[in-house]
Amino acid sequence: MTHHSTPTFFSFPADALAGASERSAVVAGLMAGSPWVSPKYLYGPLGSRLFEAITELPEYYPTRTERALLEACRDSMASAAGPEPTLIDLGAGNCEKARSLFQSLQPGQYVAVDMSVDFLRHSMSHLQRDFPHLEMLGIGIDFSAGLRLPDAVRRDNRLFFYPGSSIGNFTPEEARVFLAGIRAHCAGGQGGLLIGVDLVKDESILQAAYDDTLGVTAAFNLNLLNNLNALIGSDFIVGDWRHRALFNTALSRIEMHLEARRDVTATWPGGARRFARGERIHTENSYKYALQDFKALLAQAGFSRVDAWTDADDWFALCHAIA
Ligand code: AVI
Repeated sequence: MTHHSTPTFFSFPADALAGASERSAVVAGLMAGSPWVSPKYLYGPLGSRLFEAITELPEYYPTRTERALLEACRDSMASAAGPEPTLIDLGAGNCEKARSLFQSLQPGQYVAVDMSVDFLRHSMSHLQRDFPHLEMLGIGIDFSAGLRLPDAVRRDNRLFFYPGSSIGNFTPEEARVFLAGIRAHCAGGQGGLLIGVDLVKDESILQAAYDDTLGVTAAFNLNLLNNLNALIGSDFIVGDWRHRALFNTALSRIEMHLEARRDVTATWPGGARRFARGERIHTENSYKYALQDFKALLAQAGFSRVDAWTDADDWFALCHAIA
């Protein structure tokens, strides 16, 4: 049996030109009539830790509800996935959810994909120590605009794992395109997708989950300003802003915004913008689906059969879709 002492790492580094176009895209969002910033800038060394803390909050039900569903369905999942699947974990973070599946799935290869590369390296070094016989690949990439996989990722029996309802951070149309892209990576129609999705529920539960009493979600959202300052050289002051979480009923999504506490002028090399007191920067959407609508979305993305597991309150669903 092969002993793997460290995971193999791949990253697709952005070149200097890509960095410049990324900065101008961020600035264009800040200068827009309704200013916005992509939710990917919530993450980074501190943002990823703050998100981890969110998942432990009493108000943030998705993580623990999904964990219980994963436990309940892992044996049926293992028989559906077949022998030695190639487990491809999208947005792996601390890799804990995938780890909980190893024993029943017995993957032939574990591939963890995340844009926070240093965080991923750290998580995977622990994991590899605990599972020295499992071949592990780490891929540092922002896959939100499409997924690239190196040739070292095995082609047979791929099981994509996209937990946490991160799919809700795309618009439904972006989600359809993204899911169709994943399906295209399931060689020859073999393989499938195990995906978690958050369901529509009472607004007060959603509101509390995205505006917790400890203020961890507020810190997570506000920290985006620190990430912007590092990326575009701006001078946003965190104390000038407050966190807002609002449920948009018509679009079935929680929206996170940063709201100016006073009149603010933010500057960066080559530009500036004045924000009036009360003006908001939109930082994230988190769509909440009715289960039948999400199954329809998977079908539109080309997946054939979908099995779904939900908790007793119908708050969250875990879906297994066959490519
Ligand atoms: C990562 N994603 C699924 C989280 C969500 O619930 O939309 C991000 C998050 N934003 C605020 N709290 C958690």
